[in-house]
This record gives sequence, C-alpha cells and structure tokens, in this order.
Amino acid sequence: MIVDCDPGHDDAMALVVAARHADVLGVTTVAGNAPLHSTTRNARIVLDLIGSKIPVHSGASRPLVAPPHDASHVHGKSGLDGADLPEPSRGPESENAIAFIIETCRANEGVWLVPIGPLTNIALALRAAPDLGSRIAGISLMGGGTFGNVTAAAEFNVWADPEAADIVFRYGGKLMMSGLDVTHQLQATPSRLARIREIPGQLPKVLADLLAFYSKSYINSHRDMTGAAVHDPCAVLALTHPHLFSISPEHVALESHGEHTRGMTLIDRRQYSKPVAPNCDVVWGVDDEPAFDVLIEAIQFFA
Ligand code: RIB
Ligand code: CA
Repeated sequence: MIVDCDPGHDDAMALVVAARHADVLGVTTVAGNAPLHSTTRNARIVLDLIGSKIPVHSGASRPLVAPPHDASHVHGKSGLDGADLPEPSRGPESENAIAFIIETCRANEGVWLVPIGPLTNIALALRAAPDLGSRIAGISLMGGGTFGNVTAAAEFNVWADPEAADIVFRYGGKLMMSGLDVTHQLQATPSRLARIREIPGQLPKVLADLLAFYSKSYINSHRDMTGAAVHDPCAVLALTHPHLFSISPEHVALESHGEHTRGMTLIDRRQYSKPVAPNCDVVWGVDDEPAFDVLIEAIQFFA
C-alpha cells in the first residue's frame, strides 16, 4: 500500500499500524491538518520514531480549487503538538508524490492507495495517469460519513478538497470509505491511554502524550466522548483486519456546491428494489476493543 497522509495525530497512529501489518511501499504527504512542510516533517518524524526507512514523498501544498484550511485547532500549530518530538532524520525523498504514486502503481501489481487526509494527491494522480484506476487494487480512504465535523454535513478530509473527493468517488475502481460513522467508534479513552503508558520505552510515552493532547479538543467539544476519535487507522485496518469491520456497498455522491452541504458525502440508503448502482464500500462499524488492541500491539512491537 501507499499511505497518503497529513499527520496529524491519528495519521501517526495509522502509520504505526500500517508499518506493522502492511507492505508500505511509500508514504506521501498532503496539506491538510497542517501545511505541507509540517505534514511532511511529521510523517518523517513518526517513521523515524518506529525505526522505519519507508520513503516519504511530499505532494500537494493546497487543494485543487478550495482555499487552504488547516485543523490547527485540533492538531496544534505543528500538526503534531503535545509531545517532545525529535528532529526528522531527513527531508522527503522527493517533492513529487504524484509521480511516485503513478510510477509505483505501474511497477507493482495490486497496490492499495490509502488516503487519510484531503484527497488532492490521489485526484491529481488519477487525472495525470488515466491507466491508474485500473492498475491499483483499490482505494481505502478515511473521510466522509452521514454527519460532519467541520459542518453538520462535511467531514474535514472531504470538506478540505471536495473537487478532489469527487474525482476519487467517480474513479470507478474499488473504493472503501471509513467515515465518521465508524471512526467515532474507535476512541482513545483514558483506559486505553493508560494501557499504552504501561508499555516501557520512549515511543509509547510519545504516542500516549500525542493522543492525550489530541483528545482534549474532542472531550471539550463532545458531550459523549471520553477520548479522541482515532480516525485514520480505520482506513488501514479495514484492509489488514477486515473481520473487525461491518461494510456495505452503497452509492455515494459528493456535494461540492451546497451553501450548507459543500463537502458532504451523500450516501443513498433508500431501500429501493433496484438500488442505485454502488460506487463505494462504506465501513459502518468496528469491533473497537480488538481494533484498539491491534493499535496497542503495534506500539509494543516498535517500542
Ligand atoms: O476528519 C478526520 C480527518 O481529518 C482525519 O484524517 C484527521 O487526521 C484529519 O485529517
Ligand atoms: Ca488525516
């Protein structure tokens, strides 16, 4: 797989679990939670922390059409606030994530693209290489849902670049969407953070500190959450641990014009005898206890 990300606290956890359970051919970065230079720096830092040599290639510094917006109110100014982090061992291998995605998918059979930030890089790669959609195994993304977290309708990754999301949802190949409906079920609760802190070593402390920082905004803004939704690992685990998830094929349309609904993923759940042809496997549920155990085991593995 290629993980396309905008670290981002939950992106960091997704990188850890992907490195543990998948053959990660590369990590590409995109502007999202923080500007591109920050998300690229953060991706390298996380991979350094787990002793990984996986290459990092930076990509789009802004959405296709929408003005750039970050999520510093959640992830902090650096995009990965809340812990003492080392300097990155090096910069990105290249600043052309799009070329890396295209070349890697042409040279390797069965590559999954796993975007867990705005979909700008994926859309640009699909547009630049019309053969890409039929070469890859599929796209497993974190984004969308039946509700939003930027507006009532729009989730951040889709809201940040709806035009890119529309290209991805129309690409015609295998698509899996882990939206807020499933990711809010995977929370960094105090008992789970305590379990991470019990693991000896610097990595568990750093990750627990990051998750504790990340949880503050969720606990303060939600009546019913005792920890942050650890969104991004769902897009990885849905591929590596599919038995932990409930999934159904649906038709999903992207709204890019609505005054109140721009960035909405409109999932057609009408129970017609002849439903609209599905374009996406929507991930609805997760067995969250064993799923979080997988995250904790991955931390232990690299600690
Ligand atoms: O809405 C959640 C998504 O937005 C996650 O990918 C998080 O990292 C942010 O990018
Ligand atoms: Ca992300």
